[in-house]
Amino acid sequence: MKDRIDVPFFVHGGDYNPEQWKDYSGILEKDIELMKESRCNTMTIGIFAWDELEPSDGTYDFSFFDKVIAMLKENGIYFILATPSASRPRWLAEKYPEVLRTCEDGVKMRYGERHNHCYSSPAYRKKVAEIDELLSKRYGNDDHLLAWHISNEFGGACYCDLCKEEFKKLVKNRYHGDINELNHAYWAAFWGHKYNSFDQIDPPGAHGDNSLHGLSLDWKRFVTDRTVDFMRCEIDAVKKYSDKPVTTNMMFGFTGLNYYEFAPYIDFASWDNYPDWHSQTQTDVAAKSAFWHDFYRSLKNAPFMMMESAPGLTNWKPVNKLKRPGMDELAAIQAIAHGSDSVQYFQWRKSRGSSEKFHGAVVDHVGTNETRVFKAVKRTGEVLERLSEIKGSGVEAQVAIIFDWENMWAFEQSQQLEYNKDYRNDVYEYYKVFWENSISCDIVNLHADLSKYKLVVAVEQYMVDRAAIDNIVNFVKNGGVILATYETGYVNETDLCYLGGFPAEELKDVFGIWNEEIDTLYPEESFEIKYGKNTYKGGRWMETVRLKGAKTLAERESEFDGSTPCLTVNKFGDGYAYYNACKSDEAFKKAFIKDILDRFNINSLAPIKDGVDHDGVVAHKRVKDGTEYTFVENYSDKPFNAALDGEYYDMVRGETVKSVDLNPFGFAVLKKN
Ligand code: GLA
Ligand code: ZN
Repeated sequence: MKDRIDVPFFVHGGDYNPEQWKDYSGILEKDIELMKESRCNTMTIGIFAWDELEPSDGTYDFSFFDKVIAMLKENGIYFILATPSASRPRWLAEKYPEVLRTCEDGVKMRYGERHNHCYSSPAYRKKVAEIDELLSKRYGNDDHLLAWHISNEFGGACYCDLCKEEFKKLVKNRYHGDINELNHAYWAAFWGHKYNSFDQIDPPGAHGDNSLHGLSLDWKRFVTDRTVDFMRCEIDAVKKYSDKPVTTNMMFGFTGLNYYEFAPYIDFASWDNYPDWHSQTQTDVAAKSAFWHDFYRSLKNAPFMMMESAPGLTNWKPVNKLKRPGMDELAAIQAIAHGSDSVQYFQWRKSRGSSEKFHGAVVDHVGTNETRVFKAVKRTGEVLERLSEIKGSGVEAQVAIIFDWENMWAFEQSQQLEYNKDYRNDVYEYYKVFWENSISCDIVNLHADLSKYKLVVAVEQYMVDRAAIDNIVNFVKNGGVILATYETGYVNETDLCYLGGFPAEELKDVFGIWNEEIDTLYPEESFEIKYGKNTYKGGRWMETVRLKGAKTLAERESEFDGSTPCLTVNKFGDGYAYYNACKSDEAFKKAFIKDILDRFNINSLAPIKDGVDHDGVVAHKRVKDGTEYTFVENYSDKPFNAALDGEYYDMVRGETVKSVDLNPFGFAVLKKN
């Protein structure tokens, strides 16, 4: 069984839907000509092609796909084959209505759209397995098939009776068939909501139970579990006749499914990347996109695929701004710099009708190679060819940023301090400091093996279970450094508050503090943080931290106590634990994180002689068999010129260099001589 795409070059191409163009003669031939010219070597086919492959129940027609695949192959183009389950044919919903999803308020959906079936429906599972197996039998061993793309962007939940029954089973199992255990775990005596039996279990919802946080968490766990279970049926079906690697494409910042739970079953991770380039500051957008690249690399600790990205622009955001000159190529290189082995677009040819007819595509309605976007894609293809030897290389990170899915769910549902809660955004803010300092980070959850990291950063890790507490204790005891923030260790895995003081259990010893109170301020209020010789701005959220062995590094004035800590450090075992007790401006984070990096010798990867003093210029590194490849990326709209710290081979320009001269949104890829 192969666990990754087995070609010695970067995959470059995109979603290809030739079935939309069947009646247009010459289009296929033109597509192939343009694919070759744009250096696109791989097309993802079949994503929404079920009605083409099975026009009526049990009647299959692979002739068009046979033809498309044969033409791709004759022209040296590879393909990734999607299972078509993301969108079912009209006849299927008519014949087996149970496949249609039921909404939260009990309304059964009519046929339409996509990504909206019931994952429990036996009829759906059967029909999907049948078509998947047939595809596997027919194309699964083709030497030009690179991988399986399972469905498309799984998401959403179904509230039908079949799904509700499955939910009851999961809950019953989780609480060992003991209704008292469940009542305790959900704190159901609150408002007198105790259950008498598991038959009374019903999903949470706006018009039902919304205050039992344990129930809401279990429902979210269930939705992930159902979806993973469905995906596994599809994986079993395609693997019946094929040993090609499988993936499923995940989404930017999507919170509905816990993607960590998908990782064990896919061979490599892939995702669809649609940043709002040029919306806020470019550095915020770039850091967010970088974060998710790092997340998907860390998911399997291996190269991943950027499965979709928009050539030029999207069409579904409130504002769809074209990527400015250079940005298409830089966005592609960003993926590679963080460990992607592909640059794929949505989509190859712009649809003529329906909802995506104005979404960016490699080939526009004009149908030629003369567009600006086509030329940008071609330039990217040429660059990727020059970088081929980097394909398959890894990223070595000394820092782990914790991104904990269940914590995000728990934190965001906790009914407190509403306007302060944006877990993802708050994690991005800390991540960005590392990104700006050109330091590679892995993104992992609190159950990961932390032993390989020098520094672990856990922002707002509100929920910790026993295993997470042990993981932190052991990591620090054995010499690791942790930086945690306000809102650490409040609740357990069913959202019950820890008794005995926050942070939970032994975390008080690790951090050498006890957090007595939480306070919040109105948006226009702030306070001064004194750190070293400087002062910074804090606000919105702060804790009253009592020292139990830790040392104060930064503090603020307090009406209650005179002064109170904003940043502490504690020696625990062979390691150190930092606690940042309040929200603050970017400058404070930058200052104290820089001091932590210096103290523990975590150094910038930027190969710039005098260091980078330019907003938006960062560096990343991939490593293969001892060879280091350094990417220098300029996300700013100003040029960047600087002397390097030695002599490098510039793989894009094909020459030895001692300096980098980057255009706005430019980049260089440097190999150590
Ligand atoms: C998603 C889908 C694609 C397409 C793009 C448009 O990522 O997977 O089918 O709709 O969005 O950006
Ligand atoms: Zn259902």
